[in-house]
Amino acid sequence: MSEVVLVTGGSGFIGSHTCLELLDHGYDIVVLDDYSNSSPIALDRVRELSGRQFVAYTGDIRDQPLLNRIFELHRFAAVVHFAAKKAVAESVRIPLDYYSINVTGTVALLEAMMRHDVQRLVFSSSCSIYGDAPGGPLDESAPAMPTNPYARSKWMCEQILMDACYRHDGLSVAALRYFNPIGAHASGLLGEEPLGEPSNLLPYLTQAAARRRPPVTVFGADYDTVDGTGVRDYIHVEDVASGHRAALGRNDIQGFLRLNLGTGVGTSVLQLIRQFEAATGLTVPFTIGPRRPGDVDALVADAGLASEMWGWHSTRTVADACRDAWAFALANPAGYTDRAMAGP
Ligand code: WQD
Repeated sequence: MSEVVLVTGGSGFIGSHTCLELLDHGYDIVVLDDYSNSSPIALDRVRELSGRQFVAYTGDIRDQPLLNRIFELHRFAAVVHFAAKKAVAESVRIPLDYYSINVTGTVALLEAMMRHDVQRLVFSSSCSIYGDAPGGPLDESAPAMPTNPYARSKWMCEQILMDACYRHDGLSVAALRYFNPIGAHASGLLGEEPLGEPSNLLPYLTQAAARRRPPVTVFGADYDTVDGTGVRDYIHVEDVASGHRAALGRNDIQGFLRLNLGTGVGTSVLQLIRQFEAATGLTVPFTIGPRRPGDVDALVADAGLASEMWGWHSTRTVADACRDAWAFALANPAGYTDRAMAGP
């Protein structure tokens, strides 16, 4: 009998790739999404790629009556919780929306899980919690120094999850602090297609390369980094998806566990632009602009714990991710549109 997993935010960038990973490895899934930053077409692509069917509910993660109905209709073995807002700059502009959706939504989900005796949770946490933490590659013992409402909302969720695990003996939580997920599924059918103007670097860069957007603005060239531009640890989204499957496959997680999902390799903004150009043969137009509020110089993972505990590590490169992101953009020049509607 396959385990049934609820995937909140399952039509999003990381959610859709994780849904496919779980289906391809024998899980049954149910999805809840409000499509505020994604398209239900992504789920149709997951059905097409996996050859599997699954139910998707439309709604807000804070909707407790809806959550109760879903938990009454399905016997979940576990939950993977992606549903949240996740853009650093946007969180500075609308902090209360971030706390309401990310924090209140996580509490509503936890209450539904406890009411229905669902004891396993994989939580979408974030490297942004480290914020201005000093030093090089960051391991899970590095201090939490979040510098923006998005990062603080994820840190608050981790505190809530730790308290819930302390109170409820059987509850096990894997909080996966992923670094910067990028790329697309190798098929070209799944990728990163946020609604409206992308706030993250690679999806914006990809659209600028396709001349769907004005040139990239490099947010600051005066950071204390190799070339003055921001350094991040870019991890292929398919590796992030496999990390979530690795977490679900564990039955030895006692209480709360936090784990980095990263590559250990830092790449600056200018280096990513050059890597994208080398991987695609394109020229990416860009200009240098001021720093973006909430950003930090560098965030690079020490990903050793996931490897040591679970034998999990990233297997794809930044160049792979650039190539796959561009393949998705070429196959989907207008993003997630119904190809039947789009015609030949
Ligand atoms: C990366 C770098 C920008 C856009 C993301 C997710 C967050 C979390 C961590 C999972 C920074 C620079 C960006 C642009 C630029 N992941 N940049 N021009 O802010 O690190 O956060 O990863 O939880 O959910 O949002 O990613 O891609 O926005 O920025 O120069 O147009 O690129 O300053 O140095 P960020 P990002």
